[in-house]
Amino acid sequence: MNDIERIDALRDELNRHNYNYYVLNAPTISDHDFDMLMKELEKLEAAHPEHDDPDSPTRRVGSDLNTGFEQAAHLYPMLSLANTYSIDDVDAWFKRTDEALMGQQATVVGEMKFDGTGISLIYKHGRLIRAVTRGDGEKGDIVTDNVRTIRSIPLKLQGSGWPDFFEIRGEIVLPWAAFDKLNAEREAAGEPLFANPRNAAAGTLKLLNPAEVGRRGLDAYLYYLLGPDLPFDNHYDNMMAARSWGFKVSDAMTKLESIEQVDSFINYWDKARKELPVATDGLVFKVNSLRQQLNLGFTAKSPRWAVAYKFAAERALTRLRFVSFDVGRMGIITPVANLEPVLLSGTIVKRASMHNADIVKALDIHEHDMLYVEKGGEIIPKITGVELSERLPGEPPIVFVSHCPACNTPLVRVEGEAAWVCPNKTGCAPQIIGRIEHFVGRRMMNIDGIGEETASALFSHGLVKTPADLYDLTPFDLMTIEGFAAKSAQRVIDGIAASREVPFERVVFALSIPYVGETTAKKVARAAKDIDRLMNMSTAELAAIEDVGPRIADAIRNFFTDADNLLMIERLRAAGVTMAVADDIAAGPVSDALEGKSFVISGVFSKHSRDEYKALIEAHGGKNVGSISKKTDYVLAGENMGPAKLEKAQKLGIPIINEDTFLTMIDKQ
Ligand code: IVH
Repeated sequence: MNDIERIDALRDELNRHNYNYYVLNAPTISDHDFDMLMKELEKLEAAHPEHDDPDSPTRRVGSDLNTGFEQAAHLYPMLSLANTYSIDDVDAWFKRTDEALMGQQATVVGEMKFDGTGISLIYKHGRLIRAVTRGDGEKGDIVTDNVRTIRSIPLKLQGSGWPDFFEIRGEIVLPWAAFDKLNAEREAAGEPLFANPRNAAAGTLKLLNPAEVGRRGLDAYLYYLLGPDLPFDNHYDNMMAARSWGFKVSDAMTKLESIEQVDSFINYWDKARKELPVATDGLVFKVNSLRQQLNLGFTAKSPRWAVAYKFAAERALTRLRFVSFDVGRMGIITPVANLEPVLLSGTIVKRASMHNADIVKALDIHEHDMLYVEKGGEIIPKITGVELSERLPGEPPIVFVSHCPACNTPLVRVEGEAAWVCPNKTGCAPQIIGRIEHFVGRRMMNIDGIGEETASALFSHGLVKTPADLYDLTPFDLMTIEGFAAKSAQRVIDGIAASREVPFERVVFALSIPYVGETTAKKVARAAKDIDRLMNMSTAELAAIEDVGPRIADAIRNFFTDADNLLMIERLRAAGVTMAVADDIAAGPVSDALEGKSFVISGVFSKHSRDEYKALIEAHGGKNVGSISKKTDYVLAGENMGPAKLEKAQKLGIPIINEDTFLTMIDKQ
């Protein structure tokens, strides 16, 4: 077998393993062996660029970066489904349909209603050519690059009998396991959590970085085939054909011949859906025959030949013990219902958020009420209602606190906002501890060894009141705290010392400026370039920065007029914390897209000079190295790359990229 034949054989074999693993969930090869085959293919492909194929399994990693999304009109509008909430309503739909079809018995297909984000895929000559989100139903965003990273979506079809051109629609989902993992990572990084897998799937699909999309583990179930020349005259057989071409079609899809079968399908899945690896929010019933579908037609919004049955949200009824009020890092007060423990979709719930004073008032919750708690995919359960028939006589309504539960300062409310806030920034323990915890977080100053407990102990021992105090700590100070020995104390001290080198962008994030999250902090830091300029920027100048509106501009301005904050910043500066963006970043358009990556440049380029490419690599956080070694991450190759370099790169399996690929890598993130 020559190299080219081997490449083709490997591509087929890897496609088959991907299908077994991602669609059938039945791998027939170990991960290690799979990786070995993939490596072999990568190597051979690098040696034979003339036999390139954008649909090769090696291209699933999605290493390019894109900016924004173009839009495309849907070939057929993407409609929604009429919802029903009871078996009776579904039965009524079934009977209506029968009548409309003048008594012809309609076979119905029952399937899961996946709770993700809709997608339209177009295939031509057996290859995926375009993926578009639902958008407004008429047109959507082209997200082909991101969709190509989803391993269960075939880039190239298998089997036979597929029309030369067709569309297939389905739902992109983030399985529970991937969702939990993603949120755990986000929590550790101090990033906001996704409320449910649907939001996480939709958010992930719109990321501008396909490599990150690929990492998150999206999956896709297909449920609707469209086009001028479909193989069968009914939905079910078309979907089974799609399955044979490599698409993931749910095993739950079932032909149902009578109302009784429809009802038992509902009763079965009402419970069984909890065992599924992905979130579902109901079932869908579709008339099977395409001819009958055509006869039934559409309303303005949805097909008459299909209906959704929505599962009742999982909720539990339990007694309110008392309401407590949490104080966050920014002083925001959150009312929390402390409940008689109750089992709700597999976990015991004791606390549930009541969000803010307006919601407590709107729900009209009284003390010791029986409350409805819902999860519905949310992480933090919430109170959604009161069972009035169980209200105990004489119980007064819940009164929102007027003073901070931690420091007794009268609360204030910012005009136009729902939240009550404790204004005692420097004297209120949970706020101070919260800010210290935030400051040391991994994506901020990244100081190891200080978690919630230590932050709280540092405060209660009188050692740390502002993040600036951290830089005065000695190992002996730390050893006065229970649980610290010489070694662990030294580790924290080393972490604090190392944090002096943390880039200015992260320092700005670490300061706990209201509304300034990670991305805004980066933009603000880079616009200002250093702390002195940032402290002196007017609200108008701040509001001109991308992502910063008037509200955030005001908050930043207020932060830098507060005497305590100014003192803290001077102390951080004196302690040696980085107070300006790095020179190369200050100089030009930049990102950290290439952070930690080393590059070897070889050959002649057409779009920029070699020196310009070197500067670009550095400006985006990468490193230039002279010769290829095991540690090189990429070879940026132009025309006429030296044969020795080529051979060495291939031997070590180092990706060789051209200037276009490189330029997309450093495009705006
Ligand atoms: S069929 C014209 N089948 O639910 C029929 N939709 O509320 C179009 N969905 O936009 C849809 N699972 O994103 C269909 N098995 C399924 C589905 C499903 C989830 C989503 C889809 C659609 C929304 C309608």
